[in-house]
Amino acid sequence: MGKTYCTAIVLAAGKGTRMGTRVQKQYLLLEEKPILYYSLRTFQKSALIDEIILVTGAEEVECCRKKIINAYNFTKVKKIVPGGKERYHSVWNGLQAIEEKRVPNSYVFIHDGARPFVTQEIIARAYGQVVECRACVVGMPVKDTIKIADDAGNVADTPDRKRLWMIQTPQVFETELVRRAYQKIMCTKDVQVTDDAMVVEKMERVAVKLVQGAYENIKITTPEDLEIGKTFVQHFSN
Ligand code: CTP
Ligand code: MG
Repeated sequence: MGKTYCTAIVLAAGKGTRMGTRVQKQYLLLEEKPILYYSLRTFQKSALIDEIILVTGAEEVECCRKKIINAYNFTKVKKIVPGGKERYHSVWNGLQAIEEKRVPNSYVFIHDGARPFVTQEIIARAYGQVVECRACVVGMPVKDTIKIADDAGNVADTPDRKRLWMIQTPQVFETELVRRAYQKIMCTKDVQVTDDAMVVEKMERVAVKLVQGAYENIKITTPEDLEIGKTFVQHFSN
């Protein structure tokens, strides 16, 4: 296979409602650096990644350019684009910012800016899979037993734990495939989208491969995650 072109879309346009801090969680500090800094640094350093598109709130575009991109010299960040109401709107804005000439033979890594501990190994594993099978998502086998509840709050079912994965990011796709899938879903009413793989599964009927991430690759979502993050960051080098 010839040279591929890889774009990382890093999502940072969320409000952080579950964290409940005044400052949005992606800008909270771990060892004096904003959470968003860590994944940007990892993609910047990856030899597999050619460009980064950062998606932020419309109000934060200029501030991010100055205080994060320029301050840390993240030269691969080619564009900072404003996000949308839901995560998938932000993804769509990021996908549209990929230049048309880049679309053939190219791949896109969609990553949560609130997930600071993605590693070079995870990026490399996902890349290895996506060139083989066009679509893959990073995740880990669940450790707890998971139950499905019914409307009354009773246990309705206990799925076989060996088949259950918790899904992380990056979620990695052929650019053409994921753009087409998102184009279709953006025209559909009443959609429930919680991750990118769902969009490709539903709209394109392409099998999405599960790739091993890491239990450290957590998303900072609630205040206790921040405490865990403070511990992890002490050993994190990338
Ligand atoms: N995100 C985004 N645009 C949105 C919503 C989310 O870019 N409209 C990003 C977040 O910034 C985060 C990632 O998607 O990096 C995962 O979302 P989540 O953890 O749900 O973050 P928030 O939506 O900010 O948090 P909450 O759901 O608690 O409000
Ligand atoms: Mg959210």
